[in-house]
Amino acid sequence: MAEANDLSRRDVLAAAMVTGAAFSMPGLAMAAIKKEQKQPMEVKLVHVPTEEDLKKALRTTDKGISEATHRAHLTLWQGYANQTNNIRKQLAELDTDPAKGNQIYSVTRSLKVNYAFALGGYKNHNVYFDTLGGAGGPAVGDILTLINEAYGSFEKWAADWKITGISSRGWVFLGYDRDEQRVFNYAGDAQDSFPQWNNELVLAMDVYEHAYYLDYQTARAKYIDAWFNNVDWDSVNARLAKAK
Ligand SMILES: [Fe+2]
Repeated sequence: MAEANDLSRRDVLAAAMVTGAAFSMPGLAMAAIKKEQKQPMEVKLVHVPTEEDLKKALRTTDKGISEATHRAHLTLWQGYANQTNNIRKQLAELDTDPAKGNQIYSVTRSLKVNYAFALGGYKNHNVYFDTLGGAGGPAVGDILTLINEAYGSFEKWAADWKITGISSRGWVFLGYDRDEQRVFNYAGDAQDSFPQWNNELVLAMDVYEHAYYLDYQTARAKYIDAWFNNVDWDSVNARLAKAK
């Protein structure tokens, strides 16, 4: 027996009439999609970070990254989460009439392009704050093995990380590439510039000025030195273990 949501023969014929002479599968498929869209769609929302989520990162306050910096940074992190949720709600109501699409400007283009920026900013900051608040110093465990394989030594990796941070406009990402089982220090110029596909982000350093200006003004290299003293390598190893 057919389910209540199934297309009836009458629905199929009606769709064929709407599409005119083009009694085509796309026409039928569109009719099926429109039928399903009558069901309310549940929008999955991301967690909006709170003061609680800053707790671990606040351990940095006596090692070079201040509480004032983190508290101001939290509002930006929350902004990425809120806008991710805002766009998800709008996408759930998106008018998918192809005539409404346009590559110069369209509602769909605006939502989709900015969704990558919002969700990227959210995820980048999730990793940034999760991997701060540790003892810093040289890496330990499995991540050290991978760093040594890719860069020869922790010191060489750290030098590459630092100059990448000075040369980037937004982020440095340590990506674990599942295809090659190898790590690489990627530069990210914006929230939506990512490591390559099939990489897992296991460590992220924010080098936008909001991450350090209160503490170091424009002296980014000093901020990076402080950041090294606060990395939580246990958290990085936990991310790596999940990625494998
Ligand atoms: Fe940031």
